[in-house]
Amino acid sequence: MSDISRIALLTSGGDAPGMNAAVRAVVRSADAKGIETIAVSNGYQGMIENNMRLMDAREVSGILHLGGTILGTARSDAFRTPEGRAKAADNLNAQGVDGIVIIGGDGSLTGGQKLAEEHNFHVIGIPGTIDNDLSGTDFTIGFDTAVNTAMEAIDKIRDTASSHHRTFFVEVMGRHAGWLALYAGISTGATAALIPEREDDIAHIRERIFESFKLNKRFSIIVVAEGENLGGAEAIAEMVKNGEGTENLDIRVANLGHMQRGGSPSMRDRVLGARLGDAAVQALVDGKTGVMVGERYHQIVHTPFTRLKTTERNADMFDLVEMMDRLAR
Ligand code: F6P
Repeated sequence: MSDISRIALLTSGGDAPGMNAAVRAVVRSADAKGIETIAVSNGYQGMIENNMRLMDAREVSGILHLGGTILGTARSDAFRTPEGRAKAADNLNAQGVDGIVIIGGDGSLTGGQKLAEEHNFHVIGIPGTIDNDLSGTDFTIGFDTAVNTAMEAIDKIRDTASSHHRTFFVEVMGRHAGWLALYAGISTGATAALIPEREDDIAHIRERIFESFKLNKRFSIIVVAEGENLGGAEAIAEMVKNGEGTENLDIRVANLGHMQRGGSPSMRDRVLGARLGDAAVQALVDGKTGVMVGERYHQIVHTPFTRLKTTERNADMFDLVEMMDRLAR
């Protein structure tokens, strides 16, 4: 048990639908345990600029269904320096903060690890990113909503692709991870999902498209993760077009972009945000630090920040890739 009495709460990195559900849960769960919450605006940048204030349980009313983050977020270069972190720590100490809860992705939680190591705060992370690229949780907050957004957009693209017998390359987010592309592809019956974790070659992609038309399909949709190693949907479409036998392919490209990060969170992201926010406060009360709370097989688990590497879950991902290939016929 610890005697935490004041926690600082921030959202950091790219926003994700469901972050507000987690903010609400942290503030309310802390309040229920007699702990005060200092809300930090705009991520680590707000810590450095001393942009923080007490937030009470009533102030988080009416935010559960909102996309984005009411706290604001940022990617702070200053916080990457020891001087920036020292300034942030000074400001936190002046506010009487002893625990910190960070809602964000990989880079944001690494920042938290540094605060714990260099300045002795108790730090707990909550996985919030549409990329789903953290081990220690089956899903990150925001992923479900983002996949649903991509799925609905691809369903619409499918209507027009089918009418015109076209091939579409649809680019989705995922700088380093293919989860979003894979789930969007599986849920829309796409011909293929091209992901950073797997090497693809143009001849093979072209072959997959030809095969799907040979099977009398009226269209072909290839979902491309932003970080895919051949260079993104535009570049791949161009390379496919420039190959042999492609005269009859009518190719178009759509990039779904930041719309995937917005919108009201799905039920799953709201519930996950609520559960992980509550678990983060409990982890602080239990004296834990330097860990991310996650949900695996419906259980709350704690994973040290040092073990959040994405590759641990790649085997699960490759099983899904193979399944998708089997079904796309
Ligand atoms: O990390 C989440 C993410 O949405 C990535 O998928 C994407 O590459 C990146 O953020 C975009 O970041 P920004 O909004 O800073 O351009």
